[in-house]
Amino acid sequence: MARYIVGPGVRVEGEITVPGDKSISHRALMLGGIAEGVTDITGFLAGEDCLATLRALQAMGVTIDRPEEEHVIVRGAGLEGLRGGGAALDMGNAGTAMRLFMGLLAPQRFDSTLIGDESLMRRPMERVAAPLRLMGAEIKTNAGRPPVQITGGRSLRAIEYTLPVASAQVKSAVLLAGLQANGRTHVTEPAPSRDHTERMLSAFGVEVLRNGAEIAIEGGQSLRGTHIPVPADFSSAAFFLVAGCLAAEHGLLLRNVGVNPTRTGLLELLLQMGADIRVHHAAPASRGAAEPVGEPVADIEVRRSRLKGIKVSEALVPLAIDEFPVFFVAAACAEGETLVRGALELRVKETDRLAAMAQGLTVLGVRNELLEDGLWIQGGAGFGGGTLDSHGDHRIAMAFAIASLRAQRPIEILDVANVATSFPGFVRLAQSVGLQIEAL
Ligand code: S3P
Repeated sequence: MARYIVGPGVRVEGEITVPGDKSISHRALMLGGIAEGVTDITGFLAGEDCLATLRALQAMGVTIDRPEEEHVIVRGAGLEGLRGGGAALDMGNAGTAMRLFMGLLAPQRFDSTLIGDESLMRRPMERVAAPLRLMGAEIKTNAGRPPVQITGGRSLRAIEYTLPVASAQVKSAVLLAGLQANGRTHVTEPAPSRDHTERMLSAFGVEVLRNGAEIAIEGGQSLRGTHIPVPADFSSAAFFLVAGCLAAEHGLLLRNVGVNPTRTGLLELLLQMGADIRVHHAAPASRGAAEPVGEPVADIEVRRSRLKGIKVSEALVPLAIDEFPVFFVAAACAEGETLVRGALELRVKETDRLAAMAQGLTVLGVRNELLEDGLWIQGGAGFGGGTLDSHGDHRIAMAFAIASLRAQRPIEILDVANVATSFPGFVRLAQSVGLQIEAL
């Protein structure tokens, strides 16, 4: 089983660009697949999760070329041009792929079955199946979990739906089904979640109406292929933002990072803790190529900072949802206590991230208390060392690699192969800024 050994207490510095955004790469492939004409995706994340989406679209008859690792050309099949009849579609570790495909495939004429790896086969899918059934879809799950079996040939009708939890995946699935339903579908969010689907639908020429917390889409609109330049993934940059706060005496610069405000909750949290972070938004004239599709980008500079513990506002939780593993590492290095509540969703990610982080922090000698919907951490003492289990979760593995910067002894992290789902080249990039990390 793949593992990391990370040496303790080094400095980090330099200028890096992390790989492309995972959420945006999935969406660019899917919308490209059902568009008319060609979609050109640059800066694509060639991670296992997005490759699962790419292979599924190919299996449904979409022609996709990859002239370079990060350059993908999708020849759209149109809203009604996908083909079924193949084997079950394997989403690997990718929850986003499975949930968005549920919305995309529920209105199609053919049946489909969605499966995934051991982690994904345990994750809840009823949150998506329920609103789709209200639209008239026929979907079966296995006691709420995959395999997801979709019976095709149902014509869907628009609904007005209020999401029970802030979830971009559920929102996106309903919007994708709404695109192919009769009438105007309305989705209301209890709190803002990432809005890449809405922004990208607009870039493909679809009219998306926004009114406060409500988003509406009229069925039957066709998509026009376009160019999607994918910015660097804020969620991958997050590991280096925290690394910089812990150990960048001379600064660390992260280039061309996607800074969509529905994604940058961690930035806000670190600033509240006293982090020395500067965001250089791209100037209008020289704006990064990602701007035309409505995704803001910036270069972010970070320096070693004296962090203070904070009480995290629940409103920021959905905006930092994927960053909590590495945020907890920052909290353990901050002076004083940090408290996160209202983060129940972390229990149903690739693993139970609250439990996995509490367990790993305990191994490293950090006092913490696992709460039903959050975590309390006593910061300030730094980390010891030892062997931890990532539970096959990419973000847990990378978060503990960053903890090494304030550790006294080496940290061994087990079961790290899934880092390739979101961050191919993590080890090399981490080494390039100074981390003493080795993959075995
Ligand atoms: C994602 C939405 C979030 C996030 C996931 C990616 C997306 O999940 O955790 O990594 O691309 O829509 P939820 O919508 O379940 O919160």
